[in-house]
Amino acid sequence: MQSESMKPVVAIVVAAGSGSRLGGEVPKALRELGGRPLVGHSLAALADGGVNRAIVVIPAGMMPDFETVLADSPIPASIVIGGAERQDSVLAGLEAIVGDPELATAGFVLVHDAARALVPAEVVARVIDALASGAVGCVPVVPVVDTIRRVTESGSEVVDRTELCAVQTPQGFVREVLHRGHLSVRERGLQVTDDAAVIEALGERVVLVDGSREALKVTEPLDLLFADAILRNRW
Ligand code: CTP
Ligand code: MG
Repeated sequence: MQSESMKPVVAIVVAAGSGSRLGGEVPKALRELGGRPLVGHSLAALADGGVNRAIVVIPAGMMPDFETVLADSPIPASIVIGGAERQDSVLAGLEAIVGDPELATAGFVLVHDAARALVPAEVVARVIDALASGAVGCVPVVPVVDTIRRVTESGSEVVDRTELCAVQTPQGFVREVLHRGHLSVRERGLQVTDDAAVIEALGERVVLVDGSREALKVTEPLDLLFADAILRNRW
């Protein structure tokens, strides 16, 4: 039997969204930051944090564009086509892992939004460490800095911010549990907000680790400006 340290640490990088809120001519994952596409930054960060294989889930019809970008990947990266919702894209990635004899031995899988291009390597490493220490699921989080109000039909009220945190990626899981969770979610026709919710629907618990504000998800044009500033600051 292979020891855990010899098994690949695989990441599914979901990049199959269109980026409608960001706009632009190309899918969001191919938008450039400092001359490198977002998905390329994501792969570099995952590799620096300890991931050694990747599955990149892309929109249909974009294979040549992504192949060009992935030629520069620091770790071997294969490509699969995603689905209509993020959860469909994650499941496509999980199925690609099972279909690859080398990857199917992986005990852990990280799921990462290509759009969180500047996630620090330390965050990736923290997630992997939590799994190595026995967590079934692990989620990086950051404190909520804004005061939040809940708005209802009858008015509004402030929500206790100390009870809240914002969720980031990469989220890490025991691969078999996440796969079983996604199959169950699809079977039951559930809509989930993230992969942690998928394993919680099975009754499993997730561990929280510190994320980073640098792992912001590029969502709107303003986020590209923030990300550009973060990148320049690193240089
Ligand atoms: N994603 C995916 N498959 C989908 C939808 C989203 O792989 N069907 C990926 C995106 O590519 C992104 C991540 O999930 O890396 C987070 O999604 P989001 O930030 O919402 O990206 P988009 O869906 O592309 O953007 P928008 O919602 O503005 O269209
Ligand atoms: Mg979206």
